[in-house]
Amino acid sequence: MAKALIVYASRTGTTKRIAGVIAEGIRDAGVEVDLVDVKDVANESKLQGYDGYAFGSATYHGEMMQPMKTMLFLAEKAQVEGKIGGAFGAYGWSGEAPERIYDTMKNIFSMDMVGTSLKLKSPGLTPVVLKAAHDYGTEIARRITAKG
Ligand SMILES: Cc1cc2nc3c(=O)[nH]c(=O)nc-3n(C[C@H](O)[C@H](O)[C@H](O)COP(=O)(O)O)c2cc1C
Repeated sequence: MAKALIVYASRTGTTKRIAGVIAEGIRDAGVEVDLVDVKDVANESKLQGYDGYAFGSATYHGEMMQPMKTMLFLAEKAQVEGKIGGAFGAYGWSGEAPERIYDTMKNIFSMDMVGTSLKLKSPGLTPVVLKAAHDYGTEIARRITAKG
């Protein structure tokens, strides 16, 4: 069965919440998903063997969180070329992190990326806003299944 991995970096839980809703979207579309805190990714073997990936970080001081940067160096060694990819994160006003992650997945890892990164502004994550995260998960699953 097709399988996706979501890895998130979150300080106060908002990006973690978004990750959970993306996971629901993927699962509801019939693809298995593992949801992992970036702190639990010790080496690249934890990243291997999936059909699709969504990496997310909140933005702090105009950047992704440090553990996500470290994880991306591990992902470079995880044979993710050509795999479906997406990037996401909560932000307050500028939201650089999801864009940087997306660009790295596309340009360095040569992944097959969904349309854009998913940036959700906080506070204000209502169920209506979070539907975008569910839809993002649906799209990742659809792309994984289409590739079959
Ligand atoms: C000290 C500090 C710095 C921040 N810097 C930025 C920033 O540069 N750009 C931005 O868009 N949001 C910034 N934010 C807002 C966070 O990205 C936002 O609160 C986000 O929801 C946090 O996500 P998390 O709960 O997953 O940690 C900052 C927040 C704090 C507390």
